[in-house]
Amino acid sequence: MTKGLFITFEGIDGCGKSTQLRLLKEFFDSNNIEYVEVREPGGTKIGEKIRGVLLDKKNDSMVPMAELLLFEAARAQIVEEVIKPSLACGKCVICDRFFDSSSAYQGYANGMGAQLVSSMNDIATGGLKPDVTFLLDIDPKTAYERRNNRGEEEDRIELMGLNYQDKVRAGYLEIEANEDRVVKIDAVNSPEAIFAIIKEKVWDLIV
Ligand code: TYD
Repeated sequence: MTKGLFITFEGIDGCGKSTQLRLLKEFFDSNNIEYVEVREPGGTKIGEKIRGVLLDKKNDSMVPMAELLLFEAARAQIVEEVIKPSLACGKCVICDRFFDSSSAYQGYANGMGAQLVSSMNDIATGGLKPDVTFLLDIDPKTAYERRNNRGEEEDRIELMGLNYQDKVRAGYLEIEANEDRVVKIDAVNSPEAIFAIIKEKVWDLIV
């Protein structure tokens, strides 16, 4: 039995992940490639409850350590319940955010530090790492305008503002500089041009 490919998507809020996730799913569907799609935080019954707590605007007194532990708790659940079993039976797993989000948001932007967050990530995942991570890189102002055009209400983390998203972006760029599995793509390009890069990389890894 072949081992499934574990693919994650990362980037600041409004970077265009959803469109690329949709295009990848269509590509897998048309090539009869079996996959499971999940998102973080969430993706399980317990994880979706934790997501509600994390994104609720009313929880504005949440301390950084509680925030980190909640993200890691949701992660531990999805890894054991969905990701590991799916990979073990040869399915691809497409994950909308994974532990790089904790490194960029909590570790870097919240200032909890790369080392602490990396240890927590390891504990929550049991050392599981993505085979490939697509980082959609965009400047926070453009991403904010995109989100604004969609007219979506901002959640607790989006409400932290442009300065915070700038730090998150810098965190992601630091991760990319140290991790070969991360493919950085300029997200101001057209969705088609971005997907061409993703498709080529995924195809290379699958065949
Ligand atoms: P979501 O609505 O899923 O955002 P997006 O569509 O941009 O992925 O909300 C998830 C939010 O949680 C997003 O602002 C990123 C943040 N986040 C962290 O801060 N740390 C994490 O470990 C994860 C997985 C997400």
